[in-house]
Amino acid sequence: MKHLLGLEELSAAEINRLLDAAEAFLGVGVGALPKRDDLKGKVVANLFYEPSTRTRVSFGLAARRLGADTLDFSPGGSSTAKGETFIDTAKNIEAMGIDAVVVRHSSPGAPHILAKYLLPHVRVINAGDGAHEHPTQALLDIFTIRQRLGRVAGLTVALIGDIAHSRVARSNIHGLVKLGARVIACGPTTLVPPEVASLGVEIAHDLDAILPRCDVLNLLRVQFERQRSGLFPSIREYRLLFGMDGERMHRAKPDALLLAPGPINRGVEITPDVADGANSAILDQVSNGLAVRMAVLSLLCK
Ligand code: NCD
Repeated sequence: MKHLLGLEELSAAEINRLLDAAEAFLGVGVGALPKRDDLKGKVVANLFYEPSTRTRVSFGLAARRLGADTLDFSPGGSSTAKGETFIDTAKNIEAMGIDAVVVRHSSPGAPHILAKYLLPHVRVINAGDGAHEHPTQALLDIFTIRQRLGRVAGLTVALIGDIAHSRVARSNIHGLVKLGARVIACGPTTLVPPEVASLGVEIAHDLDAILPRCDVLNLLRVQFERQRSGLFPSIREYRLLFGMDGERMHRAKPDALLLAPGPINRGVEITPDVADGANSAILDQVSNGLAVRMAVLSLLCK
């Protein structure tokens, strides 16, 4: 594997290899566990053209805990405002001597463009391209499922909410289906594209009906910034039909695992008591994200 552009391109064996590798990075650099030097002398560039909290910080910290130098680019305050193109900016950052670039962009395919135009030794990692893919988010989601439930194959995983605009949903679908999970895409008819059925996914519009048979509930954020008008009736109606609250949790399996990629709209997709409750692994996902990103960086850059 040269780049990590999406989970669509990876085989089950490659996904499992990344997940297995991540186990060894759990806790590296935290407390008494020392940092490592897998990436000593390497430079990892973060190129984030869209807002990010978790993904950006996580990639930077993961790279530094493996001994790399990091640089952080965002368009605000940069020469993007003077009209510099995406490729020119990337080529200029490359000219400073980098080994890997982590890119987030609103255009689907932006990481693929970098993979084509950057020097052959530079590794490209997709940190989210429009509504297309967000492979490390899906890897950390699947890693958390495996950690908490001991397996992935045979589990029923519901992706709930705005499937249409979610790169997290798309990457999860590719990864989970390849690893043998049953995936249900559940949301309002306007936000669940019928085409996902061709990826081996069951489509549902009634959350209460599917809840009792789900082992994992992944609550996706409503992507207000990517939606055209008219797709979304009202926040109140969404919350009523698809929001996870304490009462709805009673209809789920008692040990159902609750995931959310973050950021969460508290009180829309999920109420605070559920987000912070016993079934929630939301903060574990964040901790596991570091291990997953260390595994990705070290496997690609070695
Ligand atoms: C996600 C993203 O940016 O796609 N966030 C993340 O990386 N954890 C999900 C989202 O924005 O809803």
